[in-house]
Amino acid sequence: MNRPIGVFDSGIGGLTVLKELVTRLPFEDFIYYADSKNAPYGPKSVAEIIELSEKIVRFLISEDCKLIVIACNTATAAAVNVIRKNFDIPVVGLEPAVKPACLNTKTGNIGVLATEGTFRGNHFKTTSEKYKDYVTIHLQVAKGLVESAELGIFDGYEAEALVSQYVEPLLSNNIDQLVLGCTHYPYFYDIIKKTVGSSVDVIDSAGPVARRTKDVLMTGRIFRTENNCRKISVYSSGDQNVIKKVVDKLFNLDENNQLVELKFI
Ligand code: DGL
Repeated sequence: MNRPIGVFDSGIGGLTVLKELVTRLPFEDFIYYADSKNAPYGPKSVAEIIELSEKIVRFLISEDCKLIVIACNTATAAAVNVIRKNFDIPVVGLEPAVKPACLNTKTGNIGVLATEGTFRGNHFKTTSEKYKDYVTIHLQVAKGLVESAELGIFDGYEAEALVSQYVEPLLSNNIDQLVLGCTHYPYFYDIIKKTVGSSVDVIDSAGPVARRTKDVLMTGRIFRTENNCRKISVYSSGDQNVIKKVVDKLFNLDENNQLVELKFI
């Protein structure tokens, strides 16, 4: 089916998921919406996040999308059930990769970095409950990292100080798995990896979401098997310079005959 896949996030974070989707689904067209004007979603109320998410879903449907990927843990936690109920379109949500971390831990301690909105959600609570007899899950809200990423600041003294402020307490709890439960955090992967060292695995949800999306496309028979010049459209409600910089870095425009275009609304 030659219709695009719609992907959205509160801002540029979901581009880390889009990158994985683009790699794993080489014939699909994509429309990405970064709601940077309204980021961060983390501290907002459930009602506000539902309202913003529904507005974006309406926009993506008006652009003829065949499936929606919510590339945002916070928006999934608040709005995925309502969106599934109110819109007649397949929806793939995203949640912190707690399951693989629990299955891989040897120390019995894992750390999760996410927003308050994600920790508040039922998905997170239900998944964590399943492992609570065997694994201690240490939670940490990483306030400030989303804001830093939205300003295009991914390294330097302040970013390093934020990372160490949030990661050191988790390390003191003997974690050997660190879950990046927000799609903005992979931008800080190098700093995070340097802080945790080689004995801690740092994992995010981009791979599992891309695999799940492929599965939904195939079982729903809406998977695309050829495309000579695929199109990736990136819309943003926020700062043009930051998203341009990130898109240029993540997507090689000449690669695979791929056309990447940026639009601001
Ligand atoms: N990228 C986000 C997530 O995965 C949203 C963070 C925010 O806007 O607070 O949760």
